[in-house]
Amino acid sequence: MYKSHTCGELRREHVGQIVQLAGWVHRRRDHGGVAFLDLRDRFGLVQVVADPSTPAEARQTLEATRMEWVIQVEGLVRPRLPGAENPNLPTGEIEVLAQKVKVLNPARTPPFLINKEEETDEHMRLRYRYLDLRRERMRRNLELRHKVVKFIRDYLSERGFIEVETPILFKTTPEGARDYLVPSRVHPGQFYALPQSPQQLKQLLMVAGVERYFQIARCFRDEDQRGDRQPEFTQLDLEMSFVEREDVMRLAEDLFTRLVAEVTPHKRLLASPWPRLTYQEAMARFGKDNPDLRYGLELKDLTDLAMGSGFKVFESVLAEGGHVRGINAKGCADYSRKQLDELTEYVKKFGAKGLAYHALPKEGGEARSSFARFLTPERVSAIEQRLEAEAGDLLLIVADRPAVVFESLARLRVLLAERLKLADPNVLAFCWVVDFPFVTWNEEEKRWDPSHHLFTAPMPEDIPLLDVDPGRARGQQYDLVLNNYEVGGGSIRIHDRQLQEKVFSLIGLQPEVARERFGHMLEAFEYGTPPHGGIAPGIDRICMILADEPNIREVIAFPKNQVARDVMADAPSPVEEQQLKELHIKIVDD
Ligand code: AMO
Ligand code: AMP
Repeated sequence: MYKSHTCGELRREHVGQIVQLAGWVHRRRDHGGVAFLDLRDRFGLVQVVADPSTPAEARQTLEATRMEWVIQVEGLVRPRLPGAENPNLPTGEIEVLAQKVKVLNPARTPPFLINKEEETDEHMRLRYRYLDLRRERMRRNLELRHKVVKFIRDYLSERGFIEVETPILFKTTPEGARDYLVPSRVHPGQFYALPQSPQQLKQLLMVAGVERYFQIARCFRDEDQRGDRQPEFTQLDLEMSFVEREDVMRLAEDLFTRLVAEVTPHKRLLASPWPRLTYQEAMARFGKDNPDLRYGLELKDLTDLAMGSGFKVFESVLAEGGHVRGINAKGCADYSRKQLDELTEYVKKFGAKGLAYHALPKEGGEARSSFARFLTPERVSAIEQRLEAEAGDLLLIVADRPAVVFESLARLRVLLAERLKLADPNVLAFCWVVDFPFVTWNEEEKRWDPSHHLFTAPMPEDIPLLDVDPGRARGQQYDLVLNNYEVGGGSIRIHDRQLQEKVFSLIGLQPEVARERFGHMLEAFEYGTPPHGGIAPGIDRICMILADEPNIREVIAFPKNQVARDVMADAPSPVEEQQLKELHIKIVDD
């Protein structure tokens, strides 16, 4: 036996017991002939002491240890001396007087400190991830993630769902990214695709009569990396038969409401039931379809007021069908020239050509505006009113193509909220976004793209629009949004072969290609398919937010870095010539 107790569990009631402990040397100090050492395991820290009453051999061994050595200690639990208790440590009332000490494994000096929360270069952290994971913050994150997943499994199991594993070696399951391909040795020139999600398989499970399926499912997408994206990530994938949109949304809402209460009781929901926004409303008010509802700073449409204003910047944009919209940066009227230039540079990153501003000074301040002198006073005050401006506010306006106006103001809104500290980290603003356009026009490829995925059903009343005006049809899709992130997406599916083929053809899939790629789905739909729908919340993103972390790498044990590389194992990496040969692959330089 290595341990009779964990390092975190010893309390006053254990005083007088001889215990066996094992763990890592967290910290050491010597005080005039008495050696103190904090011993750490996953469950906590305990103070181990060697004083003159400790056998010499044990004392010498203890003194020889260094940070992160793995040791075993046998000793007597005794109360700490009065005044030496540590109220910040659960084991702070006691210490363990060492009697036997054994080194199980010494350690090289770690490349960064484990026992301190200090800024460490992320490359080093990922390179030595097994050391990084020893740190308190990472241990907490791993445990949080475990609790989230366990809660989900229990919740769904109690409600008649079963977890079914689906293949990783499969066929293309497009969700808008590139596929990861795996070459077949047995079938020269042929490839499996790793699923971008289990979408088709969960629908086939509905055809199979499973009715209530879920899976903590790994998904693979080859796309540009961002803080909230990884090449492989985890979804709570879920599908139900005989349901309508409301049924799936109600289930997900109840699941996450209870999950938050159980796993992160220190956080509170902004609103319950969760607000619902249509896609149009989300864009108009926040400029994006995954808005942060924890604060105002909403966008306002100024297009009508800019029309005929005489300000060239606005007029020229309007002449080309653009929009003029703005936001009110509350209390920022005293922003300096330099700060305004910074904001302008910031929106330029998102395609804006400039940022018009209008500051309403507090008493005695200087009135500054990049456009007031071109406009009539009535127009200026109409703009002020529309943006609910008060003395001390700064109005920021962008004129451009709608997509550029929305993106640049949406980003500006988030940036200002950060600076003004408007987003309470302990508030969770879940909301639903619904009524997305069914398809969106892809100008480059000159075709319609599904706005969710190929299998989403259109709103029944909008089906006739697919023939005449597809851009106006809405999909039976719902996005789950939390604090500025899309944390889940789902829909009611098509369960009818004719409608599915119609959608394939609408998005420009030739019938032969559709049959080659998705023939198994079309065929399955002919064998008695129940109406069905589901959702897939992203576990990584939800854990990131619950853990107050800035990116999803912090809640994944072994993530890839920003260029999709595992820097610990060094993957991807070249392989033996022989392996390539077996796979019928030749590497050519381009
Ligand atoms: P969707 O593509 O919207 O839907 O994905 C669902 C959720 O998965 C998470 N997510 C990611 N997380 C980390 N890294 C990524 N690269 C990444 N990509 C997506 C997001 C997202 O909201 N099959 C459908 C679901 C359905 O219709 O039931 C799907 O995959 O949180
Ligand atoms: P200019 O006439 O280019 O000096 O621009 C006058 C003001 O309008 C400056 O504050 C610019 O940043 C701003 N501006 C220029 N183009 C745009 C635009 N497309 N939208 C909003 N403001 C702009």
